Formats: sequence, structure tokens, C-alpha cells
Amino acid sequence: MAILVTGGTGFIGSHTVVELTGANEDLVIVDNLSNSKECVLDRLEQITGKRPKFYKADLLDKDECEKIFKENDIESVIHFAGFKAVGESVAKPMMYYHNNLMGTLNLCELMSKYGAKKIVFSSSATVYGLPKSVPISEDFPLSTTNPYGETKLMIERILADICVSDPEWSVAILRYFNPIGAHPSGLIGEDPRGIPNNLLPYVSKVAAGKLECLSVFGNDYDTPDGTGVRDYIHVVDLAKAHLCALKYAREHKGIDYFNVGTGTGYSVLEIVKAYEEASGKKVNYKIAPRRPGDIGECYANPEKAYKMLGWKAEKNIKDMCVDLARWQEMNPDGYTD
Ligand code: WQD
Repeated sequence: MAILVTGGTGFIGSHTVVELTGANEDLVIVDNLSNSKECVLDRLEQITGKRPKFYKADLLDKDECEKIFKENDIESVIHFAGFKAVGESVAKPMMYYHNNLMGTLNLCELMSKYGAKKIVFSSSATVYGLPKSVPISEDFPLSTTNPYGETKLMIERILADICVSDPEWSVAILRYFNPIGAHPSGLIGEDPRGIPNNLLPYVSKVAAGKLECLSVFGNDYDTPDGTGVRDYIHVVDLAKAHLCALKYAREHKGIDYFNVGTGTGYSVLEIVKAYEEASGKKVNYKIAPRRPGDIGECYANPEKAYKMLGWKAEKNIKDMCVDLARWQEMNPDGYTD
């Protein structure tokens, strides 16, 4: 029996593969390499001593993906594969809806056909839209402000409807807050294409001299120092949450939702300071106008994941910045193998 990890050579997928392998789980990776590189498999083998079984395939190619189910006894799925850039989704909504929704529908149809009815789904705190208050709990109202977030919410609802239609399904929805950092080995990490949209990859490249200056998007929010506050979580802690969620899915039928965050918010300027201390390098920045669509404050109430999954974040902001700095130092231009 094997776990199918879709998007398993990506940032969060690859870190989850490390933890699954460490737990002696049999797994198969499927990835179309649209936002990752095959050399990640070499890095995974270096870290774990085991090269994961890999299929280069697109979830939109249902026949290709069916081969995976025919050739492997798939028991469950951890589903990361999907486009995830907020700004790009606003510019190219049809591409996002087609890729993220059709890919997931193909996957679910194959799971149903081959009796693999357990799934852990990579969702996002973006489904909460502009939260009424913080910290955010799972029963908060759901709304989205961009097509990317809408695809996450739609997939949550597709999975909920599947559970109603077939009580044999088990679905664990993980709503990530802000994943950052890298594996302590420095061998795997976040490798965004082009200019990073997210804060930490941008900060690490400014510190490394790869980018000139960080634009701090607004310092007039209703936060302690006026800059945006987010719940940053170490990607290794996030990866471990997937193993706890898989265990939960193996023991429970039906669908449930879990915030995966630390419960602590840090501002942009606090992150800059933390990264400077961790890396020993200066991060040049300037205050810039707010980024459209941004919210001032967003952090999780992580209690439900602790009570029901037995999971909580263990790494602190210093760990996140130290591990990210090591990844940046060891891989100045990302995966170049
Ligand atoms: C964090 C803070 C910015 C860049 C996004 C997606 C979300 C999820 C995580 C996928 C904010 C500020 C950022 C910069 C800055 N992705 N910032 N200068 O927007 O909280 O969440 O990534 O699931 O869906 O929306 O993350 O890292 O872009 O921004 O000042 O150059 O840093 O304003 O306050 P965000 P982020």
C-alpha cells in the first residue's frame, strides 16, 4: 500500500516526502515539474537515503495518471499539486480554474475508481478572506479575494460533497498559514520562479545581494509597527502536520478542517530583524504603498489541530530564519543541478 504525493517535488511536498520516508511510509510522487525540478529527487535521496518512486505526469492527463494507480497499490493521497500564485491567478483565472479544479477532479475520479478514498488536501488560510478578527478558527466565515483562493475553497467543497456521496471517504483539509524556512540540511527549500512574490524568499535574496531592496508593502496597518502581521510556520513543522493528518484520515471517515499555524503573528519589520540576526546580513528596505488585496493581520488559532491531530508547531522564528539562511547560502540560485 502506498501514498500518492501529488506535487511531491515542490516546496512543501518535498519536505513532506522527507517526513513520510522517515516514518517508513511507502510513497509515489507525481509531479509535472511546472514549478519544481527533477533534481529535487537527488536531494531527497541525499537526505533520506532512499530515492522516491517518481512519475512525471500532469493531473490533467488522466490516462497517464491512471497508469500510476494501475502500477501501484495506492492507499491514500496527499494532494499538493496546483498553481499557487495569487497575482498570477488574478491575471490568468481560466488557467487557474482549469488546472487546479480539473486536476483535482481527475485525481478524485481515479481515487474512487481504485478504492483509494483517503486524502489530505493542501488548502490555505486564504479561504478566510478578510477575517472578522484574529486569531482565526476553523468555523470562521469563508470568502476569497482572488481566483487562487477560490480554487482552494472550491476544492474543499468538492471534497465535502464527495464525502456526502460516499461515506467511505476520509478527507483532512489543512489550511496553511505562511510556510517558510527550509530543511536543516540546506538541501531542499523554497525555489520560486523569477522575482519572489512572498516575503521570506524576497528577504533572503536581498540579504544575499541577489535583489537590491525589499519594498515593505505599507506601514499604516492597525498593527504594533504598522506593517503586515502573518503567522509564519516552519515548513518542517508543516510537513509533520501532514503525517498527523494522514493518521487521522486513516482512523476517521468524513471530512474535517484544520488550521496549520503557530498561533503567533510577526510583522514584516520583525521578520526583517529576525532574518538579519539569523543571517548576520543586512536587509535593505523601503516603505512602499500597500499591496492590493493584502490584509493587515492574519494568524491562526491552532488549538483544533493540537486537540484532534496531536500536532503543534515546535520551531520558532529564529529556527525558520536560520534554516532559510542556510538554504540560501548553499543554493544562491536555487536548484541549479
Ligand atoms: C506576507 C507579508 C505582505 C512581500 C500569500 C498567499 C497565501 C499563501 C501564502 C499560498 C504581507 C508583506 C510581502 C514583499 C512585503 N500562499 N510583503 N513585501 O500574502 O500573507 O500570503 O502567501 O497558499 O495564499 O496569499 O504572504 O509572503 O506574500 O506576504 O511587505 O515583497 O509580507 O504585505 O504583509 P501572504 P506574503
